[in-house]
Amino acid sequence: MIVNSKQTNATIIFLLICLSINCQDKNHLIKPGQIWPDTEGKHINAHGGGIIYYNDTYYWFGEYRLPRLEKDKSHYGVSCYSSKDLLNWKNEGLALKVINDSASILKPGCVIERPKVIYNKKTGKFVMWFHHELKGQGYKAALTGVAVSDNITGPYKYIRSIRPNAGVWPLNFPEEYKNATVKENDLRNGSDEWKIAVREGLFVRRDFEAGQMARDMTLFIDKNGKAYHVHASEENMTLHFSELTDDYLDFTGKYIRVLPGESNEAPALFFSGGRYFMFTSGTTGWKPNAARLSVAKKIFGEWKSVGNPCRGTEDENKITFGSQSTQILTVNGKKNAFIYMGDRWTPDNLADSRHIWLPVEWEKGNPVIRWYPNWNLSKLK
Ligand code: DGJ
Repeated sequence: MIVNSKQTNATIIFLLICLSINCQDKNHLIKPGQIWPDTEGKHINAHGGGIIYYNDTYYWFGEYRLPRLEKDKSHYGVSCYSSKDLLNWKNEGLALKVINDSASILKPGCVIERPKVIYNKKTGKFVMWFHHELKGQGYKAALTGVAVSDNITGPYKYIRSIRPNAGVWPLNFPEEYKNATVKENDLRNGSDEWKIAVREGLFVRRDFEAGQMARDMTLFIDKNGKAYHVHASEENMTLHFSELTDDYLDFTGKYIRVLPGESNEAPALFFSGGRYFMFTSGTTGWKPNAARLSVAKKIFGEWKSVGNPCRGTEDENKITFGSQSTQILTVNGKKNAFIYMGDRWTPDNLADSRHIWLPVEWEKGNPVIRWYPNWNLSKLK
């Protein structure tokens, strides 16, 4: 074949264009708060999410939010993205979709928040849990939903939604709390007496028969493979840590109350250096507030608040750099490397909410976060 110089030049130009398009399209930095384009150039639509590492790949699951004015709610659910480098994410579509059947409680119009997926080594199945609210009922139902799949990217088969731990007392619930008779109607909401009553189990007793409320949630697998469902309960006043069955599909009935009456949500847990750490937020709806860090030596141990982990200006610390925690990601292949993942919510257009990822740094043995407008994984020691 004879190739003339015109053809050679054209080929070189073509290759250079391809190279430059490819370079432009790739993300090289994490840029908290900015549009984060997936491999098709669209902002990653996976909010309140969580990431799992499986077969050399990261999978990011999150709330797939519809455009604000979208009337058709049937293409709603949990999105999944995959990545090898935590920077460039391929959209794998909806891993769990609402069910187009008016008899289903997972029908279009329901709310799915903070989905998390874990892998069960014993069953070889992927298990997804999520906060589930019923169509037209605001945040009243406070259910947790579970779905399962043989494939990590789905489709996940919806099993059920429940209020956990019906008919069982928390392990750390004193006898006198079980027998107390004070009722919600006897107290003024928010008064000192009300706060004491809440701390002493007012809502645990109220919801004893029907099951405990479950709103903002996360999952955590301990070193021994036991998994825990951690959620905001008791009208968002107290966190509950509930042990899951060996197949991760149900609750064993063993659970504890954590930080009673302290009004935490958005829990994100991780383990490092023999201690369990938890980031949470206060409860101010979509508006960001000051993050809180808590520490424990055992998952079912004594959790202690150790203050605000943010190391920015006073204004930045008050609002966690404009974010709310969703997960602390353990980075594979590095020693003790973690990423704070948070959401900067845009309530009027939730799909446009921004991802706030920051490297976890350490100060006197505790994790802290600082603002970096852009950074790469070499920041993680
Ligand atoms: C705060 C929660 O953390 C979010 O997941 C969401 O439920 C909003 N509240 C709703 O106001």
